[in-house]
Amino acid sequence: MKIIAISASPKGKASNTLKLLEAAADGAKEAGADVEIVDVTKLKVNFCRGDSSCYRTGSCFQDDDYADLKEKIVAADGIVLSAPNYIDNVPAQLKVVLDRSANFIHEQLLDGKYGFTIVTSGSPNYEMVLDMMDNFIAKSGGLRTGRLGLAMAHGPDAAVAAGKKAREMGKDLAQAIKEKRAYPEQVSEHKKWKDQFAVTVKFNKENWKHNYDLWVSKGWIKV
Ligand SMILES: Cc1cc2nc3c(=O)[nH]c(=O)nc-3n(C[C@H](O)[C@H](O)[C@H](O)COP(=O)(O)O)c2cc1C
Repeated sequence: MKIIAISASPKGKASNTLKLLEAAADGAKEAGADVEIVDVTKLKVNFCRGDSSCYRTGSCFQDDDYADLKEKIVAADGIVLSAPNYIDNVPAQLKVVLDRSANFIHEQLLDGKYGFTIVTSGSPNYEMVLDMMDNFIAKSGGLRTGRLGLAMAHGPDAAVAAGKKAREMGKDLAQAIKEKRAYPEQVSEHKKWKDQFAVTVKFNKENWKHNYDLWVSKGWIKV
């Protein structure tokens, strides 16, 4: 069982968020998972050029670190997305990765995978950043096992408690993968969104050939 844990703080070892991510990784390992932490701030990932080539062909023409990262996520059974709050959003380094990952949404590449999200912030304003990353997991067809926010302003005790929670959540993620946990509400949300998006994929049939062919082969579009 593989879990990829994404770190998006440029602060390396000094990162508050990385500490929680490492605790989550320890919990998942304890439950038998093979966990790889990937620091996206150390990767060379170019901006999305918005030319829809990945929708047309299934991959991006750009030669950088993105293809390897995508391969790792696709090969994993679970994902933990973590980020510090940067102006009520994720840091640019992660936003670039998410923009380049639009095909995760178009091709439901997290289908059958599980994941959760972690955010630290100075103030208690972390919900919108969690929402943003949760949205990516859900729209990509993934099942969310939880989310964790920590306001650094709540002090060291809160940080210790969040570390414990992160460890439990890591363990729980591995268990969810093992038992193929059912989340019927999330599955019906996925279906609702897919029915809606099918109209867009159909409309773009010529330009989004790879997407369209996949949706037809999966039976998500009726021809
Ligand atoms: C550029 C920048 C923008 C930030 N914006 C916010 C913000 O909008 N709201 C907030 O509560 N904290 C904000 N913070 C504080 C960080 O979210 C907080 O210190 C976080 O724990 C840093 O995580 P890290 O140590 O993993 O990098 C910001 C920090 C930086 C450097």
